[in-house]
Amino acid sequence: MRPDSEKMEELQKFNGGKSMSVDYSFLLSQMTLEEKASMCSGSTFWLTQPVERLGIPCVWVSDGPNGLRKEKRSAGLNLMGTSETSTCFPSSATTANSWDVSLMKEIGHAIAGEAKALSVTTVLGPGVNIKRNPLCGRNFEYFSEDPFLSGRMGAAFINGVQSSSIGTSLKHFCANNEEHLRMSIDSVIDERTLREIYLSAFEYIVKTENPETVMCSYNRVNGEYMSENKRILGDILRDEWGYENIIVSDWGAVNDRVLGIKAGLDLEMPANNGVNDKKIVEAVKNGELSEEDLDKCVLRLLKFAFEAKEHECHNKAINLSVNHAVAKKAAVKSAVLLKNENCNLPVDEKEKITVIGALAKYVRYQGAGSAHINPFRTVSFCQTLDGNNIDYTYADGYKIKGTGVDYTLIDEACKAAQNSSRIIVFIGLTDAYESEGYDRTHMKLPESHIELIKRLVEINDNITVVLSGGSPVELYEFKDKVKSILHMYLGGQAAGEAAYDLIFGKENPCGKLAETYPLKYEDNIVSNYFPMGPRSVEYRESIFVGYRYYDSAKKDVAFPFGHGLSYTQFEYSDIKAAHKKDGSVSVTFKIKNTGSRCGEEIAQLYVKAPASKIFKAEKELKGFTKVKLEPGEEKKCEINLDNRAFSYYNVNISGWHVEGGEYTILIGASSRDIRLKTAVRMKDSNPDAVVPDYSGTAPSYYKIGECDIVPDNEFEALYGKKLIGNEPYKKGELTINNSVEQVAVSGFGKAIYAIMKYGAKLVSVTTENPEMSARSAIDIPLRSFNSFTGGFLSQQTVEGILDLCNGKSGGFMKMIKGFRK
Ligand code: BGC
Repeated sequence: MRPDSEKMEELQKFNGGKSMSVDYSFLLSQMTLEEKASMCSGSTFWLTQPVERLGIPCVWVSDGPNGLRKEKRSAGLNLMGTSETSTCFPSSATTANSWDVSLMKEIGHAIAGEAKALSVTTVLGPGVNIKRNPLCGRNFEYFSEDPFLSGRMGAAFINGVQSSSIGTSLKHFCANNEEHLRMSIDSVIDERTLREIYLSAFEYIVKTENPETVMCSYNRVNGEYMSENKRILGDILRDEWGYENIIVSDWGAVNDRVLGIKAGLDLEMPANNGVNDKKIVEAVKNGELSEEDLDKCVLRLLKFAFEAKEHECHNKAINLSVNHAVAKKAAVKSAVLLKNENCNLPVDEKEKITVIGALAKYVRYQGAGSAHINPFRTVSFCQTLDGNNIDYTYADGYKIKGTGVDYTLIDEACKAAQNSSRIIVFIGLTDAYESEGYDRTHMKLPESHIELIKRLVEINDNITVVLSGGSPVELYEFKDKVKSILHMYLGGQAAGEAAYDLIFGKENPCGKLAETYPLKYEDNIVSNYFPMGPRSVEYRESIFVGYRYYDSAKKDVAFPFGHGLSYTQFEYSDIKAAHKKDGSVSVTFKIKNTGSRCGEEIAQLYVKAPASKIFKAEKELKGFTKVKLEPGEEKKCEINLDNRAFSYYNVNISGWHVEGGEYTILIGASSRDIRLKTAVRMKDSNPDAVVPDYSGTAPSYYKIGECDIVPDNEFEALYGKKLIGNEPYKKGELTINNSVEQVAVSGFGKAIYAIMKYGAKLVSVTTENPEMSARSAIDIPLRSFNSFTGGFLSQQTVEGILDLCNGKSGGFMKMIKGFRK
């Protein structure tokens, strides 16, 4: 229930008329222990807990990173796609390809405007987890395999939203790099890798943009649930990085609420129906939790609630058409021209074209799950052709749903292609492939799409492929046989219009890949360690993620990190590097547009470290710039590098360390297309620091590419602890954190499993992604039964269920008694 405005007014009068001037300490002193505890969890699925007696307001939070998903109801499970309509912007995997911070700010600003119109004061995004493996089901919601790029894009988005007085939630903190068992899996990562790869983007964003909230992830990291991870939430996020705002749990991520408060987790979402609030009260009363720790959380929550209320407004005058134009611009700037043999694209509007592929009609523009937007308008490629009176022939080629090959549709497509001089084929990952809640099982396109393109390349040699999908796919079956490939990724609601403008040359493609496209899935070192379970996932590849691996291992790839073509050409020249007075290094160079069209170029700066005792990646991205150039125009670019650009994380000193020596500065049009090179000498930032040397204990890391299966003892040497392994769970040792699938080791557990599967099947009729419902139903841990059933299954009932799964007597009575409560 929302606090009424009179109480709010009273309180504001009492506080001098301005909520910003609320005396939080005074307010805190007026609160009972129970009221304090109640504020530490939501009141519904989307609302925080108000305290009406004191006029403390509640806050409405909503997903998500590529548009606003405000549910029409604040409570209950949101299985019906009941969100308000809004603008669907391209997903983060797409906008990352723009490498365009001002574009990200513009998107953030536009989403904030829509949030204001719907009285939402905190937008749950962006997600900046690293794409460790191309198969992670949620990669479409993340930016990149590289932390530098992820950090810059995430920061720009937050800047855009928060400068419009709407809050954000930086998520999912941290090491949530797969959906498989995401609610309980332990991500086992050595400290250096954690710092350099998995925390780095979060660190940059926290320090530069101070997000209003940080959302902790579901998983454990090195043994502890993130929702109670004292080391990462407390020591690193709060103490080291100085973060003072709200830490909120991912929905249902809380394990031990009392430990969570101690670690600094302020807010549990969604509502816990009083169960954990009671535990907080008891813990304070019995001395297990100090009231001071609780007060710290409550003070932050008070500030959060009042500041949000202050910014809440009902600006109904939002102009959605303007936002549609922003979505289109973002799709244009984020598309990547992967291949363009003999300037095959653009197409002349007078040319007779044949369009093949149902995705041209039913555009795939977003992923599934909590980031799923209900767009107010969508425009397909075919609709845009019709709108522009373009004469074309069309054939479906495959069915949009399912993966089965329909040979009749392929035959029809081949017939249409036979005498055509120009074919544009739309293929890609369809809805069932990418979603929150489960990972892909392979990196291939749907079989029906592969069969279609294989047949088409046999009969016509002038083929353009337009790809869609939020993560890499294997392209080796047709890549060399088609003339051009334009990747639209998941282009948001205006994707069809953007594709039209790019294909017909009204716009010049300028996006560059924010992730590597390997030739085959198995080429990725992480394929050896993904998925893992049921207990842990070991990040044995260490820092060798994405191009850090492919480039160090000198593996051929389909398209490298940072790759993207244009309809014009760019020449790079005149590189210089110089130390500046403030200690930074300035790198300057020139870029000239030598072609005949205006275009934008994304230049990337990589640093290659000198030889060291500690293994390092071949090179690392440490800067980039995007320049717009008219034909013949030349511009000077400057990128500044601070000490961090030359550092690795030294576990011996628990800090960042620059080794003295000569570093190579590489300027590239991609990670494999290096155009300029220079060197800069750096002083040792800590001459007393001992550089860790694993060449004796973990030699595989020094021969990456040759030795990709890192043995247990070598990974343990790096990790510094024994691995917990992955023994299957047994009856008798099950806990509340085991998933429905994992408790199916006992007869009763099997029954629960069957019920949940059946329930998911019934529900799936009404959901957009049945597989997501099915997977989510069996991956849910028992600890979430209470909150996800809105309290229908009481804590006691859940404990009874657990006892029964473990074969303990008395479980049945406990379960039944719990129902009566
Ligand atoms: C997702 C979050 C999302 C939340 C609320 C969770 O399942 O992991 O990203 O913000 O739900 O929808």
